[in-house]
Amino acid sequence: MRYKSEVAKQLHSVLPELSIETIESLLEKPKHEQHGDLAFPCFELAKTMRKAPAQIAAALAENLDADIFTKTEAVGPYVNFFLNRNIVSKDIIAIVLEEKEAYGSHTNGIGKTMVIDYSSPNIAKPFSMGHLRSTVIGNSLKQIGEKCGYQVVGINYIGDWGTQFGKLITAYHKWGEEDKVKQHPIKELFRLYVRFHEEVKEHPELENEGRAWFKKLEDGDKEALKLWTWFRSESLQEFSRIYDLLGVKFDSFNGEAFYNDKMDKMAEFLEQKGLLTESEGAQVVMLEDEQMPPCLIRKSDGATLYATRDLAAAMYRQGMYKFDRALYVVGGEQSLHFQQIFSVLRKMGYKWVDGMTHVPFGLILKDGKKMSTRKGRVILLEEVIAEAIALAKKNIEEKNPALANKDEVARQVGVGAILFHDLKNERIHNIEFSLEQMLKFEGETGPYVQYTYARACSLLRKAAYEPQEASALTDDNSWSIIKLLEAFPNVVATAFARYEPSHIAKYVLDLAQAFNKYYGHVRILEEDAEKSARLALVYAVTVVLQEGLRLLGVDSPSEM
Ligand code: ARG
Repeated sequence: MRYKSEVAKQLHSVLPELSIETIESLLEKPKHEQHGDLAFPCFELAKTMRKAPAQIAAALAENLDADIFTKTEAVGPYVNFFLNRNIVSKDIIAIVLEEKEAYGSHTNGIGKTMVIDYSSPNIAKPFSMGHLRSTVIGNSLKQIGEKCGYQVVGINYIGDWGTQFGKLITAYHKWGEEDKVKQHPIKELFRLYVRFHEEVKEHPELENEGRAWFKKLEDGDKEALKLWTWFRSESLQEFSRIYDLLGVKFDSFNGEAFYNDKMDKMAEFLEQKGLLTESEGAQVVMLEDEQMPPCLIRKSDGATLYATRDLAAAMYRQGMYKFDRALYVVGGEQSLHFQQIFSVLRKMGYKWVDGMTHVPFGLILKDGKKMSTRKGRVILLEEVIAEAIALAKKNIEEKNPALANKDEVARQVGVGAILFHDLKNERIHNIEFSLEQMLKFEGETGPYVQYTYARACSLLRKAAYEPQEASALTDDNSWSIIKLLEAFPNVVATAFARYEPSHIAKYVLDLAQAFNKYYGHVRILEEDAEKSARLALVYAVTVVLQEGLRLLGVDSPSEM
């Protein structure tokens, strides 16, 4: 917090044996509001000063005096500080009014580049709930990274290559019909894929046929390529409908297939560095020194693998973007894969691997079990989104039928519910799939925050508010809001440092709650001396709520 160092400075003047930094790191937030805004614990000092902590606290409290706090109080082993609300409230409101949506930005990333690999669904399969998680978390991290000054490149590493396409071509030849695929591409292709996996149990020779088709595909066989290209373009069209609804954009769609012509080079590099080993006809990089299974580079038939393509992609991205950081927003099931990739790159001698991070997230469970695409146990994302939007539309029709652009607002709110539902918990937790929870608009939800924002905007409209000079507000209800506004830049920094959008989600919920309390207790539009100060506070709340939601990828309609 901004004022922490100020308080630490004052403490340092009576405690010269501790540096300002040490004092600052010791200062904490009191558990109860009535204990002030900052607390300094004296336990550590007790050891060196050979006095009881409470005695030290009492002595310190007596000798402190500065403008930045109005009162100090020794409570047991703590010195509690009550910040000067007059100074701080005016200061904070003024900063938000001045900086507007830039408030909370950081400069540590300026001049640096971060690439984020996110969403990355597999073609010819439905867009899964797991890919939704990656999309939503990655998109938010992109916004947060930019807020921290980074140049961010969003990469959708489409899963458009691999043995599964050999299987799919086999299945299409055996049981597929062109017309059906044209009508419902993903549904039909997925049906074929599931059928393949059923039939293979009875007819294991299908496996070989699939492998052979994939080999043909890798060798550039015309027929195989034609089908693959068709499946791919149908899939991408379907995905882009989803991205449009979600409001998610990418800077690159270079997927796995993009790296086909870079595979030989990749194997050559590894060969030159003496890292390739033959193992049962396959080529691998041994990782036993790091207690990991070998990383497979080429199968015995020469076909490349997921890992080979990821290695080539990493090298390409470093060459292309010179990234300082590279994030992979991919489910926790793939942790080993990324550890292997990073290890191989490190063995190759690339220092830039230190900037690479796998950002894992938990599973979406159905009745406590993982949803498996192979068994056809999937929930279709497009249907979930459509349902959320329809529900939002219904709410609008009931509560605000005269609203302009109802359809767009319904999309923003329905999608807001889905995104926020994902982002409000730490990403590593599993989520039990519940349409009911996803489509909730009250309580700790996106629409609740959106609604709070719209309510604040409507107050400002009613008052025909124009941002003007900030002035102080010292009452308890305002103070809760001021302290939250003050915390925003720190929340952004922590969310980025931990690659954890949930910090922002929890923060906007807190701010929305504090504002709603304020709204319930204070007559904001009352004509008195503080009216313009209150309106400035409301305005500051709209700025930060909107910015917080934006960092989550959630829109904030000003009316709903
Ligand atoms: N397409 C992969 C899957 O669905 C995810 C790709 C993640 N990104 C990567 N660079 N491996 O499992």
